[in-house]
Amino acid sequence: MASSTAFLLPLLFAAASLLSSSAANFHQSTDITWGDGRAQILNNGDLLSLSLDRASGSGFRSRNEYLYGKIDMQIKLVPGNSAGTVTAYYLRSEGSAWDEIDFEFLGNLSGDPYTVHTNVFSQGKGNREQQFHLWFDPTADFHTYSILWNPQRIVFYVDGTPIREFKNQESIGVAFPKNQPMRLQSSLWNADDWATRGGLVKTDWSQAPFTASYRNFNENACIWSSGQSSCGSNSSPTSDDKSWFSQELDSDSQGKMNWVQKNYMIYNYCTDVKRFPQGLPPECNATA
Ligand SMILES: *[C@@H]1O[C@H](CO)[C@@H](O)[C@H](O)[C@H]1NC(C)=O
Repeated sequence: MASSTAFLLPLLFAAASLLSSSAANFHQSTDITWGDGRAQILNNGDLLSLSLDRASGSGFRSRNEYLYGKIDMQIKLVPGNSAGTVTAYYLRSEGSAWDEIDFEFLGNLSGDPYTVHTNVFSQGKGNREQQFHLWFDPTADFHTYSILWNPQRIVFYVDGTPIREFKNQESIGVAFPKNQPMRLQSSLWNADDWATRGGLVKTDWSQAPFTASYRNFNENACIWSSGQSSCGSNSSPTSDDKSWFSQELDSDSQGKMNWVQKNYMIYNYCTDVKRFPQGLPPECNATA
């Protein structure tokens, strides 16, 4: 055991450094969209930071638009008393019938857990919230938050562990995002009217500026440009790593997701019968 570990570790480090060297440079891959200097690209493009003070938050977006992809980002969330702050990290298309795949990190008092809020919009319709706590302190270090979006499913991952799967269930009449290219967007803003314990805990501006940091942005995706997909007309990728395009959850991943949902899920629209007196949304009742 020990000897095989000794043999494997250098390989793992080599693989890890390959992965990180393929991360996009923020100078080339993103545009700061708002915040008047509160968003900054640092370390020659390896690091991006967003900040929030009483006057404004800040945000950025990807230059590329995607029509399917696997997007990874390492994020270190606002530390300390982050109550009232929201760090949003999501894919979104344009227009009034937009598609959107959301991670939102709702801050909390020091020592109290962040809430990871997720949602999926198709053609302007959301109302599909699931919320989680995390099994680690997301402010102590960087962790990887990923969105997998392929024709069969959307999967939300935290450090490679799936926490939520939204399957393509067009066969039972549930709209699925598939026609509208989306950009990655991220922002840090004040939402103390609702974010922490339903708005009871207000942002403590004496702690400002609040800062979240980003690194190792990976866009393994079909890039959409001038009406065409880099993956070609049949939209299946030709790039070196195309496994994400048909990726599904194997039994190991399924087991991990069940563990997260059993132990860390704090809200699921699919069990909120009071909210849907006419019956739960169809995707909730469908058998997997
Ligand atoms: C903040 O902490 C409280 C107490 O542990 C918890 O109920 C809540 O879900 C946490 N998150 C938010 C965003 O309020």
